[in-house]
Amino acid sequence: MTIGPRETIVVLDFGSQYSQLIARRVRELEVYCELIPYHVPADQILHLNPLGYILSGGPASVYAPGAPHLPEFVLTTKKPVLGICYGMQLLTYHLGGQVDPGAEREYGPAEIQLVNPEASLFNHLPALDRLPVWMSHGDRVTRLPAGFQVLAQSQNSPYAAIGDPARGLYGLQFHPEVTHTPQGKELLQAFLYDICGCRGGWTPGNFIKESIARLQTQIGHGKVVCGLSGGVDSAVVAALLHQAVGSQLTCIFVNNGLLRKNEPEQVTQTFAKEMHARLVAVDATEDFLSALAGVTDPETKRKIIGEKFVRIFEAEARRLGQVDFLAQGTLYPDIIESASRDEQAGAAKIKTHHNVGGLPEDMDFELVEPLRYLFKDEVRAVGETLGLPAQIVWRHPFPGPGLAVRVVGEVTWERLETLRAADAILIEELWVADWYHQTSQAFAVLLPVQSVGVMGDYRTYADVIALRAVVTDDFMTADWARLPEALLARLSNRIVNEVAGVNRVVYDISSKPPATIEWE
Ligand code: XMP
Repeated sequence: MTIGPRETIVVLDFGSQYSQLIARRVRELEVYCELIPYHVPADQILHLNPLGYILSGGPASVYAPGAPHLPEFVLTTKKPVLGICYGMQLLTYHLGGQVDPGAEREYGPAEIQLVNPEASLFNHLPALDRLPVWMSHGDRVTRLPAGFQVLAQSQNSPYAAIGDPARGLYGLQFHPEVTHTPQGKELLQAFLYDICGCRGGWTPGNFIKESIARLQTQIGHGKVVCGLSGGVDSAVVAALLHQAVGSQLTCIFVNNGLLRKNEPEQVTQTFAKEMHARLVAVDATEDFLSALAGVTDPETKRKIIGEKFVRIFEAEARRLGQVDFLAQGTLYPDIIESASRDEQAGAAKIKTHHNVGGLPEDMDFELVEPLRYLFKDEVRAVGETLGLPAQIVWRHPFPGPGLAVRVVGEVTWERLETLRAADAILIEELWVADWYHQTSQAFAVLLPVQSVGVMGDYRTYADVIALRAVVTDDFMTADWARLPEALLARLSNRIVNEVAGVNRVVYDISSKPPATIEWE
């Protein structure tokens, strides 16, 4: 199969909290897009040959000194442009219109009225002349540039949607990418298909075909190793590689002793049943636990686990003889976030994240990252299309340092076993109550605290388990899950009765921010 250039839309990022969401919505409409900071040099963007541009929102004001500017090529290449919020203000300002500070910020739900229902941007809307939308802006457009017409207005924004159809330039003062704008997807669909002329085709099936062809070209007859964690990302990487290069692939699974109940067995059994690739499973429990003995500081734990993993992985990979490639499950948000991290060097570091596959730096591998342009929901869709079992595809994320960051304080085998038992009850009950998929992540935490209780006629002085369940779209912010009282009651009852050494269960009702999802 030959791989032609991909139909691409570029979303230029001006710093909006919703930028990734714009990119996800475009992908959901089966059009490939990349999210790129606005100041990236033109040639790096033009070589993608974009069919159109979407300008994101952003916190700045177009007149502020140092405000992000509109790169020249966006207009000189004469491709369609859709400016959202700050993106629309920037377009207006750049083309000679006027932007002024609004009397007050407009934030929250609003209603727009279509002034020109015939506009192409409205091609896919149901027959309505009013639409609920989500606004979030301070400045607003007060005079249109030459050639533009008003397409929709709201009470506070006389120019809620504007367009210059002859040049394919459009602006929306509201946010079509958020779910609070229910018809936002139809607006984006019209921009992509009717205005930019996209044909679509960014589907899991096509991605798999393309990805296999790319992997075959990159790897040739080389040998590949892939770290397996039990999560969906590494499973999808392994399945793609297995289809692409078959027996040239070896997977390595390191059991660090910090996994959940029965997890090592599940990983190896599912792998043997579903994937048929060669698997090297290493039990390094002793090694990890002795390195962690006496350590209580969260960052030190992470560092020890990260380094140990790399060393063990490296030793196993060397045993395989010459290995040419190392496959990793890096995702698109990692790429986007590391680009913005580099940009804001010096920003406060909250936690050191490490992923399975954290790199042996001095090894002579070339990296293979077939998921580096996918969002998590796309990885799941690819996993389903590849036929991976639902319990892998829909599994909650699990951190690289495993239960070590959920045993607050010192990590010992006994404390891990207590946590594993409580955690297994939580997960089992979530499934039974049909709440597993209604939470984005749920787990138990063992606290370094003992509390007084009474069991039978005896005083107890025993461990405390905290339960954490969150709902989130992107794991950057999260809300605690409103689990039903009856479920919480059952969890508490089962955990104190079935897990030796625990006499108290608490439920964590902190959102992120200010808390983080994990306790360490
Ligand atoms: P926090 O605790 O930072 O977690 O709110 C956000 C998400 O990241 C996961 N997490 C990690 N994942 N290596 C990982 O692969 C890590 O070191 C790590 N630390 C946190 C966490 O489980 C949540 O999903």
